[in-house]
Amino acid sequence: MNASTSSDRPANPLREGLATRPTPQPCSVIIFGASGDLTYRKLVPALYNLTADRDMPTAFNIVGFARREKSDDSFRTELLDAAKKFSRQGINDELWGNFAQSIFYHQSEFGNAPGYKSLAERLDKLDAERGTKGNRLFYLSVAPSEFPLILQQLADAGLNKAKDGAWARVIVEKPFGKDLASAQTLNRVVNEVFPERDTYRIDHYLGKETAQNIMVLRYANALLEPIWNSRYIDHVQISGAEPLGVEGRGPYYETSGALRDMIQNHLLQLLTLVAMEPPTELSADAIRDEKVKIFKSLRPMSPAEVARDVVRGQYAAGSIAGKDVIAYRGEERVNPQSMTETYAALKVHVDTWRWAGVPFYVRFGKRLAKGATEIAVQFKDVPSVLFSRETAIGPNVLVIRIQPDEGISLRIQAKRPGTSLQIEPVKMDFAYGTSFGKASPEAYERLLLDAMAGDATLFARRDEVENAWSFIDHIEHAWHKNATPPPLTFYPAGSWGPKEADDLLERDGRSWRRM
Ligand code: BG6
Repeated sequence: MNASTSSDRPANPLREGLATRPTPQPCSVIIFGASGDLTYRKLVPALYNLTADRDMPTAFNIVGFARREKSDDSFRTELLDAAKKFSRQGINDELWGNFAQSIFYHQSEFGNAPGYKSLAERLDKLDAERGTKGNRLFYLSVAPSEFPLILQQLADAGLNKAKDGAWARVIVEKPFGKDLASAQTLNRVVNEVFPERDTYRIDHYLGKETAQNIMVLRYANALLEPIWNSRYIDHVQISGAEPLGVEGRGPYYETSGALRDMIQNHLLQLLTLVAMEPPTELSADAIRDEKVKIFKSLRPMSPAEVARDVVRGQYAAGSIAGKDVIAYRGEERVNPQSMTETYAALKVHVDTWRWAGVPFYVRFGKRLAKGATEIAVQFKDVPSVLFSRETAIGPNVLVIRIQPDEGISLRIQAKRPGTSLQIEPVKMDFAYGTSFGKASPEAYERLLLDAMAGDATLFARRDEVENAWSFIDHIEHAWHKNATPPPLTFYPAGSWGPKEADDLLERDGRSWRRM
C-alpha cells in the first residue's frame, strides 16, 4: 500500500489544511498547576511547536498559575530549558525570544480569592495590550481533588463568563474520576461552572495522528466499509505496551491501575473509533453520538465473566533492554503488598448488529518488552476448499500502528516464487514517515489548537466518559468488592505479560499478535 499523496495533483496551497479545521482565535491560555510536569514536558513545548509551524492565533498569552514564587522571567527560563529537552522541533533562539514574550506567571494559592481577582485584572490588561479579545482557555492540569476549589474560585471571580462576544472554555486533564459515581460528581462540579459546550475533557490518544486516521481509513476508502462487520471480521485486538514502569507516580497509580489509567479512556476510545457506525456529518456531536452508542453497547460483565474474561497482572522484577528493573511492589511509595494491576487484558463484546459474535480483545501493560500501541483487525479464514487442503493459510490482518512507526499494514497471502505452490503471508505497508515525509504533530498540539478553535470533536463528552466508567465499574467491583476476587497474576518485567493473557485467547483458538 504505497500511499500516494496529494503530490500526484498540483498542490493548491489555498485549499491545503482548510478543509475541516476551524481557525484558532486570539486568546489567553491559563494553566493551573503550571509548575507541574505536564506544563514543562508537553503543554509549553506543544505551544512553541504550534508557533514555529505558524498555527497559533495572531495574538495569545500563556499564563501559568501556581503556588510557588516565581517571576515571569524565571518561569520563562525554566520553560526554555524544558523545551530544549522535550520539544519536537529544535529551539530557534529568535523565535523562542518572541514566543517567550507571551508567557506570564501568576502566583497564587488555588483557594485564594484575591489571587483570582488579580488574575482577572491581569487578563483584562493583557487583552487590552496584546489583542487577545477577552477569550480565555483555562487548563486544569491539577489533581481532580483540586477541581472544585479552582472552579468555584473562577466562578466567584466571574472568570467563567466571557464578556461580549468572547468565550471562556475549560480543558480538564485526566484522570476524570475513578469510577462512575466520582465521574458523575466531577461532571456536575465542572458543568455547574462551565456548560458542556465549553468543557473539553482531554484524552490525548484522540489527538494522535493515527487515531484520527481511523475514520479516514474507514470512510474515505470504498473497499473497507462493506467488509467491516461480523460477516468478514473474526476479531479485533487493541494492544498497548510500555517498557516504562510507574516513573515516580506510585501514589497516583496505586489508586488507578492499568484498567483505569489506560483502558477506561485511551484504549476504549480507540475501540469506539473502530466499532462506531459512520456519523451523518463530521460535527463534534455527530461523531461523539456514534461513539457513545458503542460505549453503551459494551456488554457489562458479571463477576463470573470477569473471572473468565479479564486477566490482571502485576510486574515482578525482571530486565528490560539488558537493565535489571525492580518489581512494582518495590517501587517508591507503592504498598509492598499492593494488589494494583499494571497489566490488564480483557475480552469485550460490542452488542450491536454489526459486531455480534466478534470479540474485541484489549490489553495494556507496563514494563513490557517494548513500547507500542496498535489495533489489529483479523479477518475470517478463507473457506478451506482450494489451497488450504495442502497448506495452512493464515488470515488477512489489517494493522493500524498508533505508535511508534505510525502507519497501516495489511497482511495478505501470496504465492512464493518457484515451481511449486507455496503460499506465504506478505505485508502491504504504509508508513507515515516515508509517505508524507513529514513528522506528525504531537497529540497536545492538535488538541490545544482545537480547543482554541472551539472544536470539541477530539475531546470526550460527558456521556462518553460516564458510559465508559459504567462498563469498567463492573470489572473493578469484581476485583475489589467481591468476596472471592479472581487472582492477580505476576509477570517478569521485560516479558509480554502474564501467561493467563495468552490462555484467554488460546481458549478461543486465537493468539495475540506479536508486536
Ligand atoms: C497516560 C497514562 O495517560 O498515558 C500513563 O497516565 C501512560 O500511565 C501514558 O504512560 C501513555 O501515553 P503515550 O502517549 O506515551 O502512549
